Amino acid sequence: MDNKLVYICSPYRGEVERNLEYARELTRKALDCGFVPVTPHLYLTQVVNEDDPAERDKGMAAGRSLLAQCSYILIGSKYGLSEGMLGEIDLALELGLKELAPEAGGLEVVYTQERTLPEVKAAFISAMQKVQRPGVASLLAWLEKTDFYTAPASTKYHGAKEGGLVVHSFNVFERLRRKTSGAAWDYDTIAIVALLHDLCKIDYYKKGTRNQKDENGKWQQVPCYTIEERFPAGHGEKSVMLIMRHIQLTDEEIVAIDWHMGPFDERFQGGSRGLNNAWAKTPLALLVHIADLEATYLDEREANR
Ligand SMILES: [Fe+2]
Ligand SMILES: [Fe+2]
Repeated sequence: MDNKLVYICSPYRGEVERNLEYARELTRKALDCGFVPVTPHLYLTQVVNEDDPAERDKGMAAGRSLLAQCSYILIGSKYGLSEGMLGEIDLALELGLKELAPEAGGLEVVYTQERTLPEVKAAFISAMQKVQRPGVASLLAWLEKTDFYTAPASTKYHGAKEGGLVVHSFNVFERLRRKTSGAAWDYDTIAIVALLHDLCKIDYYKKGTRNQKDENGKWQQVPCYTIEERFPAGHGEKSVMLIMRHIQLTDEEIVAIDWHMGPFDERFQGGSRGLNNAWAKTPLALLVHIADLEATYLDEREANR
């Protein structure tokens, strides 16, 4: 299908007034960029009783039918990705809709071309070499001595394959760069925060095997990754420590990297109020968390299945 219809995917429930304002903003943006916006939650919600599950299902089904007619999807992730949005994104990717994102004042199709691992490594190094801050050469030399360019991004959740970590780091960079285009942060901050946020996963995964049934129901050993933490110093906070052995970070960069896991951070789950303070102190902390989620659930989607 090739038309100019773009499905506007943004949250509705929760803070309804704020979310409707955001949906209007995205609809206007799509219109101004020459697209034909389809924003069901701006009008279906006028006639559907959201408190009645049957009514809500009817509205959602109508929304999915509209989505299937579109060539593009514009994902408004400023306030995170709701469960409803994740369902729509899944369907859109299944149907082959192209994702649009703000770029240079307009809307551009997100770069989705598969790159080989050596290409991603070269792109990572080149992006880091553009950073003007002292210590970059030292950090890059150290990375070569670690498993950063071959490590997975997780044991099974996303990027659980050789090179998954550098691919994920670069995906977060591309997401965050687009998200902050035109904002006050300079290139160095965006590159450092995104490309280095998961250095804590260096020398962290170990190759092993596990038992799995094959198609005939017979047990066999298959390769897998397990965790072998040699430097148990947390997650985001550990990344900060490792980076600062080479490069000085600003307070804002420290906070953004330290709290990039958002509500998935173990400190938050243990009752820490630090995340609230971090998000209140700098929107960069929230944006890097969202870029991390998008890279995981959108860009590395195949590996999640
Ligand atoms: Fe992380
Ligand atoms: Fe990450």
